[in-house]
Amino acid sequence: MKAACWMGPDTVEVQDVPDPSILNDRDAIVRVTSTAICGSDLHLLQGYVPTMQKGDVLGHEFMGEVVEVGPGVDSDTLRAGDRVVVPFPIACGSCLACQSELYSCCENTNPNAGIAEKVFGHPVAGIYGYSHLTGGFAGGQAEYARVPFADVNPVKVDSGLTDEQVLFLSDILPTGYMGAEMCDIRDGDVVAVWGAGAVGQFAMDSARVLGADTVIAIDKETYRLDMAAEQGYITVNLEEEDVRSALLELTGGRGPDKCIDAVGLEATHGAPHIRLYDKVKQTVRAESDRPHALRQAILSCRSGGVVSVIGAYGGLIDKFPAGAWMNRSLTLRAGQCHVQRYLGPLLGRIEQGELDPTRVITHTLPLTDAPRAYDLFKNKEDNCEKVVLTP
Ligand SMILES: NC(=O)c1ccc[n+]([C@@H]2O[C@H](COP(=O)([O-])OP(=O)(O)OC[C@H]3O[C@@H](n4cnc5c(N)ncnc54)[C@H](O)[C@@H]3O)[C@@H](O)[C@H]2O)c1
Ligand SMILES: [Zn+2]
Ligand SMILES: [Zn+2]
Repeated sequence: MKAACWMGPDTVEVQDVPDPSILNDRDAIVRVTSTAICGSDLHLLQGYVPTMQKGDVLGHEFMGEVVEVGPGVDSDTLRAGDRVVVPFPIACGSCLACQSELYSCCENTNPNAGIAEKVFGHPVAGIYGYSHLTGGFAGGQAEYARVPFADVNPVKVDSGLTDEQVLFLSDILPTGYMGAEMCDIRDGDVVAVWGAGAVGQFAMDSARVLGADTVIAIDKETYRLDMAAEQGYITVNLEEEDVRSALLELTGGRGPDKCIDAVGLEATHGAPHIRLYDKVKQTVRAESDRPHALRQAILSCRSGGVVSVIGAYGGLIDKFPAGAWMNRSLTLRAGQCHVQRYLGPLLGRIEQGELDPTRVITHTLPLTDAPRAYDLFKNKEDNCEKVVLTP
């Protein structure tokens, strides 16, 4: 089959690779009908996540049709012919983390738990197409994918919804929603979102449906801010104004009640001296992540507010504003998304028309154009916000 493969930093190629097959009783094989490129894939592409290997099949956002199930999957639960969306974290469904609905922290699905434990202190779940740190599972930017624990992970979608409407249940819609949910939004809240990529856009939409009074989008890409403005959100362009001052001005000097980091480890535009410091340290591998957005969110948030982190971080950061966090009673919450928790409720909100995931799609290309698709997305060419690939 054809698959988009990581061939080294900044190099994606479409290769012929062996078709996946059932390895364990609870596996299924899915024929992929739609798959997407995520900001997380850019972290891999640019070499910021260790343990990628040449030839690894990329992609953790995919959906399609079940073509085969293992003997351990009950046919009442899942069978060939079912149309499914596959959550990006692989959960076993029965460990303590899964029982607590902390699916991205599943204790059983990462065969390389030992590596993850060294980096994170404890292991995390397996993730499709997301380095050997999270298990080395082949990803879904391919014609077919093997789905482990198929009896507990995929959600069946048998209504008349299109692929475009449900594909993002695999990751970015639940991730944006979790980012807003972690904010414990109350009436009258002002919620500021750093990053107007697709994850940030869905965090903004979710903040709105969860009752935020005002939503503020922060980015440097005018076309992405325009997308947010079309939804009625206030925008702050970090290249045109000082973000913290703009936020204070919009909130009577207090700062936003809730702040969401939807940028992660490749943030640009810190204060010039700090930016240089982070860049040098990241280049010599003395610091793995550039946390400009996170620092600014902490320093801007009103006292007693919540900073919710869904942008991805991989390792260590410097100049963490611990004083602001501690002295101003801020709550810091974070996580890779526990996608399985949100599938049912969000499918409902899509069906009701409360959330329209299709609004972020700017490009749909055949899987064979994956290298070009990665270029468009990475370089933000042609006002690219989100690319869907069709095998
Ligand atoms: N927690 C999870 O489960 C989860 C799931 C999916 C994605 N993610 C992460 O969410 C983040 C966003 O994903 P995406 O697909 O929207 O990515 P994206 O690359 O499309 O968007 C990131 C945006 O951040 C902007 N940005 C850069 N520096 C900034 C700064 N200092 N202040 C404000 N904005 C800044 C960029 O211009 C860009 O528009 C990534 O880190 C991704 O890895 C996390
Ligand atoms: Zn993703
Ligand atoms: Zn588990």
